[in-house]
Amino acid sequence: MNVLIVGGGGREHALALRLRENKEIDTIYALPGNGGIAGIAECVPIGAKEIDRIVEFARAHNVGFAVVAQDDPLVLGAVDALHAAGIPCFGPDKKAAIIEGSKAFSKRLMHKYGIPTASCALFTDEAEAVAYLKKASYPIVVKADGPALGKGVIIAGDFEEAMQAVRAMLSEKRFGSSGDTVVIEEYLTGPEVSVLALTDGHSIAPLVSCMDHKRVFDGDIGPNTGGMGAIAPNPYYTERIAKECMERIYLPTVRAMREEGRVFKGCLYFGLMLTKKGPMVIEYNCRFGDPETQAVLPLLKTDLFTLLNAVEEERLSEVAVELHPGASCCVVAASGGYPGSYEKGLPISIGEGALAGDIIVYHAGTALREGGLVTAGGRVLGITATAKTLEKAVARAYEAVDAVRFEGMQYRRDIGKRALMAPGGS
Ligand code: AMP
Ligand code: GLY
Repeated sequence: MNVLIVGGGGREHALALRLRENKEIDTIYALPGNGGIAGIAECVPIGAKEIDRIVEFARAHNVGFAVVAQDDPLVLGAVDALHAAGIPCFGPDKKAAIIEGSKAFSKRLMHKYGIPTASCALFTDEAEAVAYLKKASYPIVVKADGPALGKGVIIAGDFEEAMQAVRAMLSEKRFGSSGDTVVIEEYLTGPEVSVLALTDGHSIAPLVSCMDHKRVFDGDIGPNTGGMGAIAPNPYYTERIAKECMERIYLPTVRAMREEGRVFKGCLYFGLMLTKKGPMVIEYNCRFGDPETQAVLPLLKTDLFTLLNAVEEERLSEVAVELHPGASCCVVAASGGYPGSYEKGLPISIGEGALAGDIIVYHAGTALREGGLVTAGGRVLGITATAKTLEKAVARAYEAVDAVRFEGMQYRRDIGKRALMAPGGS
């Protein structure tokens, strides 16, 4: 069977590597793929948002299964289009992808079905939002309703900052139509956990928990990025908390989507905060997280294609999700200047120290030029180690990072540090 992956980042490289292990799969196509995926799949320069071309390609190349990994094509209805062409797919349809596409939708859903989340108010009118902010307590969180490349969440320390965020969204339209509705939300505190869970709309199977590191600099300072590194499992996420999340968050979310006539099939990503009042949902994503997937998939024992196929065929309950023991750590090597502007086309060298059996160097923003590997994006590589303990995985990942070079390379030196401070965190 030929399999198609829509996307071209570190997450897609991680998915492709695991799919490659399945003997039923002949060719893997990646649209558009990247310099690393090109080593194990055929990369084709079709953008992840070019849905008509994707469908046409899939038809012409006898694709028997498609994995739509990136958020934009999911929100735009890539799965609906592929299904209409008779191609089985992993990923939610457009109706269900709204759980990520609109924060106003997801907040209303959680409110209606009693799923724990920060309290909030929604506004389309600036004067009403400002009146609300005058009476609010601070800090407070202002979010654009729609997708905003991770820049649509502002934690405002005072009224002035919050008002500027609201104005930027509602009257200055700085986030385009994504900011037509703003969500003003209670500020929560506590360790954050990401849980990627497979669901076929009936049962739900969480994979190993993990922790992202969203800010660009050590100590969680600087602007938000797509994620500068991840560790798994997340030691703050105990068995007791996992059970509570299953009962109060995961199953209720799957049921809620079904009741709304928006059956969710695919990977449902729960961004959680473990507050003093219990776990709460910070955000949902309608797809595998990145870089989380790069830390999670090396710990998955069950064949990935078997799982993705069971989701599509709505028989996930028949397949057990088995995990390897141990821990993993993924350190993202990013271009100098990221998440702001950065140079592309710089040669990358990956030395011996990053080629050991316990290390995987996932490619995100890379390309092949005249046979050589060059940078082609903000997040360039995800250098991932697995080991018996988190402490060892972190140490090994950083040893491998030392063997990787490109001009301007920046990375956080504290991936896993907060996790190692958790009770029982080594
Ligand atoms: P999001 O794009 O919704 O994941 O938000 C980005 C980051 O902003 C999250 O990972 C949190 O660190 C932070 N954040 C979002 N919502 C809240 C909240 N209600 N309270 C505190 N921090 C938040
Ligand atoms: N790492 C966060 C995300 O994938 O949205």
